[in-house]
Amino acid sequence: MHRKFARLDFKTEWPSRTGLPQNWRRAHMHEEILLKPHNARIRPMNPADAERMRRFYESMSGESRDIFPNYPFTREHAEQAAKESATDPDKRRYVAVDGEYAPEGAMIGMVWFWGWSKRVPWLGIMIADDYQNRGLGKAMLAFAVDEARAAGKGGILLTTAKTNVRAQSLYGRFGFVTIGEDARGEYLMILNFDHE
Ligand SMILES: CC(C)(COP(=O)(O)OP(=O)(O)OC[C@H]1O[C@@H](n2cnc3c(N)ncnc32)[C@H](O)[C@@H]1OP(=O)(O)O)[C@@H](O)C(=O)NCCC(=O)NCCS
Repeated sequence: MHRKFARLDFKTEWPSRTGLPQNWRRAHMHEEILLKPHNARIRPMNPADAERMRRFYESMSGESRDIFPNYPFTREHAEQAAKESATDPDKRRYVAVDGEYAPEGAMIGMVWFWGWSKRVPWLGIMIADDYQNRGLGKAMLAFAVDEARAAGKGGILLTTAKTNVRAQSLYGRFGFVTIGEDARGEYLMILNFDHE
């Protein structure tokens, strides 16, 4: 299958707080992004990712899981999520996989939307423990923001624990602002595309 890659060295080619890297060019959605420093790819999840996703869940430390108190890190959820990638238009998941070429390696990150049919969908993101703090979260968030913009969304909503300073700093770099708190006392943040 012919694939177009956007080549991206996000450590050296990141121009601005909210902007995408200068060489980040995608003609349409669903193209893969190749991350040079990691030899990793970001692409939409597909139904064949169930086992890869199960292993990703299994690899997450207690500390990382505690950030998502109600998230089901189970085999059943991995299977359901992979299936939903083909059947549920309200959910969109993108995975980062290790390895530049097929066969693909392990799943090392995931960014996902729910409420995608709404004007302003919700976003979640998790990076495998061994790959955190290496720029992958930033690249995956850039990919997701780009997808939402390309789809004509009005913005993106998310919540984050008040203690999760790293995540807040990442979101802040993209222009997310805190607009309140949710019922659990987490910060509610929005990135608004309306006035761009
Ligand atoms: C939060 C998370 C998505 C960030 O992804 P990452 O790949 O680890 O982070 P990156 O290396 O891309 O760093 C991106 C930005 O985060 C910020 N950041 C990273 N580490 C930080 C730290 N220790 N303290 C404050 N800010 C930090 C910086 O702004 C950084 O950008 P910069 O390096 O250009 O300054 C990832 O660590 C993760 O999945 N953590 C566990 C789950 C989680 O917290 N999810 C979010 C729930 S709301």
